[in-house]
Amino acid sequence: MTAEPFVTSSLPADIDTQKLPRHVAVIMDGNGRWAKQQGLPRIMGHRRGVDTLKKLLRTCNDWGVGALTAYAFSTENWGRPLEEVAFLMTLFERVLRQELRDMDKEGVRIQFVGNLQSLPASLQEEIDRAVQQTQSNPGIRFTVATNYGGRQEIVQACRAIATQVQRGQLAPEDIDESLFSHHLYTANLEDPDLLIRTSGEMRLSNFLLWQLAYAELYVTDTLWPDFDPTEFHRALCAYQKRHRRFGKV
Ligand code: IPE
Ligand code: IPE
Ligand code: MG
Repeated sequence: MTAEPFVTSSLPADIDTQKLPRHVAVIMDGNGRWAKQQGLPRIMGHRRGVDTLKKLLRTCNDWGVGALTAYAFSTENWGRPLEEVAFLMTLFERVLRQELRDMDKEGVRIQFVGNLQSLPASLQEEIDRAVQQTQSNPGIRFTVATNYGGRQEIVQACRAIATQVQRGQLAPEDIDESLFSHHLYTANLEDPDLLIRTSGEMRLSNFLLWQLAYAELYVTDTLWPDFDPTEFHRALCAYQKRHRRFGKV
């Protein structure tokens, strides 16, 4: 158990609260490359990546960002070496068990999106516990995408809607964007305003394909384990300089 006091930091003076993203999504990429740079096995990068996420969550909560969504494991990541996948599953479970108390105390509301039924049973139990324990908390909405794939999410939504149509509970004309988005895992969330991807890759890698339609994209070459509050501040500065037009002039 960590006994360190919670250090809260306030929003930097050059960030306009009116222009703060309400929902930030992150593709936490570059753990393996970070480890390689240090001459360490890839798993050490994942371990360090957890510290980065903890710090970012706390920073978002302190600075008044309403929601943070982090991509932890994609449906494609099962294709990695067996030992790495096993390490990640164990890591998620252990971190969740260790951090739940502190997150709860800090008012974090945690939820998970993705195909959770295919995760190890012991991890599902930790997930259920964490979700239940924090569901009424007043603080940041923290969403972890685990065994998440954007296409898979859209397909499962189509299936659910098709079933309702087949049963006569819904007419095809009733299907609109709002109804559709209520069948996604993120039904209770606003779309992200800002997507951050670390380690320089210019792609979405199957993350929140529907929800990111009008997000501002910010890509940094910094590897995820090195993405600190200073880097996050830089991303927010870039974001608040953007002119969001949403197709208008
Ligand atoms: C992101 O880091 C973490 C996960 C996908 C779980 P990577 O493991 O993809 O790191 P790189 O891209 O190989 O450096
Ligand atoms: C995206 O990173 C998935 C997560 C961060 C969980 P990847 O490293 O899996 O993406 P690709 O393979 O570079 O597209
Ligand atoms: Mg990667």
